[in-house]
Amino acid sequence: MDGRDLVRSMKRVGPAGAGRGLRTVRAAWRRRRADAAGLPVRGPERARVPGLVQEVEPGPGGGTLRFSRSELSIRVAVNGAVFWGWDGAEPEPSYALAGRCPEPDPRAVLEPDKDGGWRVVAERVTVVVSRHGAVEVCTPGGVVLRRDLPPRWWEPQGGGPARWMQRSEVAADARFFGLGGRASGPRLRDGTYRLWNTDPGHAFDREDDPLYLTMPVQLVVADAGTHLVFHDTSWDGSVALREGEEGAGSGHDRAGGCEVRMDGGPLRCWVIVGTPARVLLAWASLTGAPALPPAWALGHHHARWGFGSEQEVRRIVAGYHEHGLPLDAVHLDIDHYDEHQVFTVDEDRFPKLSVLAEELRRDGIRLVSIIDPAVRATPGNAVYDSGVAEDAFVRDASGRLVEGVVWPGEAVFPDFTHARVRKWWGSLYAERLAQGFAGFWHDMNEPTSFAAFGESTLPRSARHSLEGRGGDHREAHNVYGLCMARAAYEGLLELVADQRPFVFSRSGWAGLQRYGGTWSGDVATGWPGLRASLSLVMGLGLCGVPYSGPDVGGFDGSPSPELYLRWFQLGAYLPLFRTHASLRAGRREPWEFGPEVLEHARVALVERRRLLPYFMTLAHLARRTGAPYVRPVWWGAPGNRALRDCEDAFLLGDCLLVAPVLGPGVDRRAVQLPRGRWYDTATGRAYEGPGQVLVDAPLSRIPVLARAGAVMPVRGDDGAVELEVWAPVRGRTGGGLVVRDAGDGWAEPEIERYVARWEGSRVVVEQEGEDGVRVPSHPVRVRGLGER
Ligand code: NOJ
Repeated sequence: MDGRDLVRSMKRVGPAGAGRGLRTVRAAWRRRRADAAGLPVRGPERARVPGLVQEVEPGPGGGTLRFSRSELSIRVAVNGAVFWGWDGAEPEPSYALAGRCPEPDPRAVLEPDKDGGWRVVAERVTVVVSRHGAVEVCTPGGVVLRRDLPPRWWEPQGGGPARWMQRSEVAADARFFGLGGRASGPRLRDGTYRLWNTDPGHAFDREDDPLYLTMPVQLVVADAGTHLVFHDTSWDGSVALREGEEGAGSGHDRAGGCEVRMDGGPLRCWVIVGTPARVLLAWASLTGAPALPPAWALGHHHARWGFGSEQEVRRIVAGYHEHGLPLDAVHLDIDHYDEHQVFTVDEDRFPKLSVLAEELRRDGIRLVSIIDPAVRATPGNAVYDSGVAEDAFVRDASGRLVEGVVWPGEAVFPDFTHARVRKWWGSLYAERLAQGFAGFWHDMNEPTSFAAFGESTLPRSARHSLEGRGGDHREAHNVYGLCMARAAYEGLLELVADQRPFVFSRSGWAGLQRYGGTWSGDVATGWPGLRASLSLVMGLGLCGVPYSGPDVGGFDGSPSPELYLRWFQLGAYLPLFRTHASLRAGRREPWEFGPEVLEHARVALVERRRLLPYFMTLAHLARRTGAPYVRPVWWGAPGNRALRDCEDAFLLGDCLLVAPVLGPGVDRRAVQLPRGRWYDTATGRAYEGPGQVLVDAPLSRIPVLARAGAVMPVRGDDGAVELEVWAPVRGRTGGGLVVRDAGDGWAEPEIERYVARWEGSRVVVEQEGEDGVRVPSHPVRVRGLGER
């Protein structure tokens, strides 16, 4: 730490003052001291590889192979996913799994392979293990999708967790996606991606990595097939990726490479092979169905750090009304707390919060509260006192409470890896519900603790329960946000059993979708930030977390009217559609950017409202199938390389293709179309895919294309559901699913199935039922009839 660090730290904590600056210096020293005393010294290490296979033991779904210096268990599960673990690692316990590990598939058996190797043959995948411990994942046709070389461990001679490294090869044409929320994606190019949830401490851009929500989940897409691989270890680690290269002419192919390094934890992984849709289905069956957002959460949210008072909230809401702009939720940031302390209210500036909440609710607008995990460490602070009584806070190796610094000052942190602590924390949401809040926005839960130097989180030596197993922050850090989301979700279920909880969290890990969604964090205001926001939503969706969205307009600074509008237009097609910005940033209300922007933003808002029944259908489909609302354009055709390399457009469900404008001065853009006919929804003009087309993208809208034959539910002028149908190609049929659910509760929704077909010169739409087809009960509007 030198003077420069100090100045940097002062800048970072901002005008809140030198007091916090000095506290962050003290916190950083405390952290350093705690780790020096509480972490084992690594000392010399011994490297190990598995050696040669000695014996095998068949077991349910596969079996165990014993090597001279390790053993490998392989198990194919009934959902088609394959588990393997080295050194006796089992699938459980795991923070990622939704429940118990799925049953083994009794049809998968271990049998001898060539050259002294062994293989497990299952319906959708064959796993071949060489006698040295290389593991190949092959399609049923025998094409290799991934080849893991024998792993390598480094064990401290004095004992303690082993570090390990797993090197793999994939096809030369393979593309990597996932690893949680990455700003530089969605295609993950050559580089090293760290697995350590991190608040970058500033508004992030495309090159910032890692961010708040990382996870060791890769989706790899190649000509030969798609697979997902999940290294189920929450420790700090990294994934180095290198795309392969196909040999031109007589040259050789260079395989793609992946090197996973972990500082500890079991070497175990799950692999799922199949089409993208099948892979995500099996992944959701393993890690949990995405929570269903209540209907209002699919509308438009307006947030702001620094509304500062009830009057200001009323002024903003009135602005939405006066300008005829739909609004569904308002988010209150930390400035509504009493001295930034969670579960309190600043009663001078928000004297009648519950009355305000009630008034808004009558207007159809919900209040959402930010929730930070840090609790001000001051006796007399009710949350602190009750947490101390509950022994809820993280301690260091010597048994002292770990203190960090966050917005309320010196603070302590609940240990969410303990069931009792989760229960206590979940019960605190009663106070928020009494204030009238309907949804919860988890922040700073990497967890962040400001530090003038070193990492802005808890000491690695901090102790955690880890469900009674005991361990330290090296293992607990990456699942901290996940466990906090669980605490809230389960607490809310107890407090308001008849309503679907709405929780979204800045940090998380594999399985976060069970409890809610996320948002992209503090994205930098600029065109690269706009691109990063799309990358995060797509990448997270491919890792199983389908509900997310950016701070529209960017978190810091002031976007130009054009940038703001383009961000707004993109946001209108993302699951979480929210304007938000920092305390010190410029305004983000749509009327602050001039009449032209206001008019176009209104169009985007009105269209979002019209699409609400479609978004609700997508939410239900995500819950049932794991398919994200926002899907890459290669979703149905991963073998199409042009689609695989397209990063600037996405499919919204099956029906729509959205091509946002991601740069300045654009009024026309190229769009890669998947196979089939696509209609520009604004002009009705038809385009034929596959291939690239040029479409108009005037400032007033971004291109949105509808698939020929699509039947999608939309909201009619009277608020009731209508069917928007896009004419199928002549001689073809179309169709769609509608899941009708306008509520916030648990009632089983109605699922309706429609088919669309030509009858003479008309397109006829029918509802399929158990006893045949019938006329739909909703009004039907057929579009695209100009093209035959
Ligand atoms: C950081 C969050 O990412 C941001 O959205 C929020 O406004 C600030 N913390 C203040 O709470």
